[in-house]
Amino acid sequence: SDIIAVVPAAGVGKRMKSSIPKQYLKIGDKTILEHTVLRLLDHPSISHVVIAISDGDEYFSQTCLKHHDRVRIVSGGKERADSVLSGLKSLQNTDWVMVHDAARPCVALDDIDALIAEATTHADGAILACPVRDTMKRGSATGEINETVCREQLWHALTPQMFNCGQLLKALEDALNKGLPVTDEASAIELSGSSPKLVTGSASNIKVTQPEDLALATFYLSTACP
Ligand code: C5P
Repeated sequence: SDIIAVVPAAGVGKRMKSSIPKQYLKIGDKTILEHTVLRLLDHPSISHVVIAISDGDEYFSQTCLKHHDRVRIVSGGKERADSVLSGLKSLQNTDWVMVHDAARPCVALDDIDALIAEATTHADGAILACPVRDTMKRGSATGEINETVCREQLWHALTPQMFNCGQLLKALEDALNKGLPVTDEASAIELSGSSPKLVTGSASNIKVTQPEDLALATFYLSTACP
């Protein structure tokens, strides 16, 4: 049990159209953040979870995570990557880090097993991902189809994403210093010239983003055998 999970949870969740940030919406008796973090802590290889929360956060202190002995918090940043960096900088003597969105409470422990197996044997880390199912179009700014993009090699990038801690820290710092766009951890590693591995994960590992996602997450949490 020597993997640390970093959970960025400092977003405001604009697309959710709710006054409460989405990670604090409740499913059953727990917030999404609690579901997510408790699921990670259920995995035997994850020793601690570091959660990045925003400085003005009024909700975290009301969760059961506040007094959890395997949970630490750090200050989040302006963008998701800043929040992750803040978490990484707080770690000492950590070999492996797994970054997982607060808004993905339905991740299965089997998928985490598969990710760990791949990341620990592949030099540049690994991410959970899901093959694209729909036909993909590239659109113009005014909404006309420019082209159909071959979907054979397209994947949805999910989380967790797992890397050597020092490698990810350096890649993220370099990318942010150069002002490059970093929407997930793998993209920072890619910008450093390396190629993380894609590990097929389950499509039920959704990121709660829009109001209709809540019903879906509720369903997956009620049925899923983690
Ligand atoms: O907005 P999006 O759904 O891409 O956010 C993904 C995750 O990153 C969420 O768990 C959100 O709370 C987190 N985040 C963060 N700090 C930010 C922006 C987003 O920790 N500044």
